[in-house]
Amino acid sequence: MKVLVLNGPNLGRLGRREPGVYGHTSYNELVELCIDWGRELGYDVEVRQTNHEGDLLDWLNEAADEHTPVVLNAGAWTHYSYALFDACAQLTAPLVEVHLSNPEQRPEEFRHTSVVTPHAKAVVVGKGVEGYREALQSL
Ligand code: DQA
Repeated sequence: MKVLVLNGPNLGRLGRREPGVYGHTSYNELVELCIDWGRELGYDVEVRQTNHEGDLLDWLNEAADEHTPVVLNAGAWTHYSYALFDACAQLTAPLVEVHLSNPEQRPEEFRHTSVVTPHAKAVVVGKGVEGYREALQSL
């Protein structure tokens, strides 16, 4: 079964971006880990990242058309993009939301809202890159 692991803005700099918050694993390492974890579960995992919101919307529309399960870390778009809310709402296969940090426990008020959660089958937060393994398992 094909699974899309979709990552939003700034996640391509994983390992270099605020490592105290997001950890030292690089984005390329995350990609390899997700592919390996997926293989163990019998999934054909494709991992993508974009800093352009329209790309993410296109990929979610593709997932809707192809009935593809999605693991989604939408980064900051999680907190305010109503276009993302709508794109997630139309998915027919399972959607699992993942965040490296735990946005609810961070001081910035804006992180305490998620437009993805209402559509997610499961939400995995605060477990770093390991959270992606858990997200794949919970699909
Ligand atoms: C994040 C949390 C978001 O609040 C933040 O904007 C990110 C990363 C996480 O994985 O912890 O870019 O989604």
